[in-house]
Amino acid sequence: MELVWPSLAHLPAYVAALERGWTPDNERGRAAAEDELVRIEASPSNFIASLVDLQGSGGPVQLPDGTLVPRLPGYRKWIWDGTFCGSINLRWSPEGSTLPWYCLGHVGYSVVPWKQRRGYATEALSLLLDEARERGLPHVELTTDDGNLASQRVIHANGGALLGAEEKPQAFRGGKLLRFRITLA
Ligand SMILES: CC(C)(COP(=O)(O)OP(=O)(O)OC[C@H]1O[C@@H](n2cnc3c(N)ncnc32)[C@H](O)[C@@H]1OP(=O)(O)O)[C@@H](O)C(=O)NCCC(=O)NCCS
Repeated sequence: MELVWPSLAHLPAYVAALERGWTPDNERGRAAAEDELVRIEASPSNFIASLVDLQGSGGPVQLPDGTLVPRLPGYRKWIWDGTFCGSINLRWSPEGSTLPWYCLGHVGYSVVPWKQRRGYATEALSLLLDEARERGLPHVELTTDDGNLASQRVIHANGGALLGAEEKPQAFRGGKLLRFRITLA
């Protein structure tokens, strides 16, 4: 398994996963997958380019209730074992280590159901943490729904410490979150 930069060569396998029902966005779910299929149809190369935005210069990000918020700098990589297995992303605040309220964590990930339970998310997070360290981030914070045991195991396996439980912001339609921190320095 490796993390690859999104590219036109990898795109057909990504589209196949979207069409099979997978979504890269754990909060917006299917709506985000449908939006992406429309954007890919309109311009595959613009779509690929939009996934790596180190300045946060792209358009706003839509939250689950439709609220638009500024885009943070960040990028997505794809989990690849000869074909598409999932996606993982890193984002950070230009103002320092604290994220704004509308970004639930520095890292998000999702593995397609047919490639789960092979250790891919655990390994993908480990690889992404190396990249975050190289970028100079002193720590990353991650949040999971309180019932998402698989994601909590992924975070624990990578040295995550529980900071506490909190309510999800209203724009995410509520619910309970657990917040973890992984120290990188
Ligand atoms: C969470 C998710 C990324 C895990 O991906 P994965 O590649 O299957 O994870 P791994 O194979 O690395 O497994 C990590 C651990 O979770 C456990 N696990 C995996 N799926 C599980 C499940 N459905 N229920 C309980 N435990 C599970 C594994 O057994 C493993 O535990 P171990 O380290 O004690 O052996 C995947 O389930 C997923 O994409 N879920 C939907 C999106 C999501 O929730 N993303 C995270 C948002 S915070």
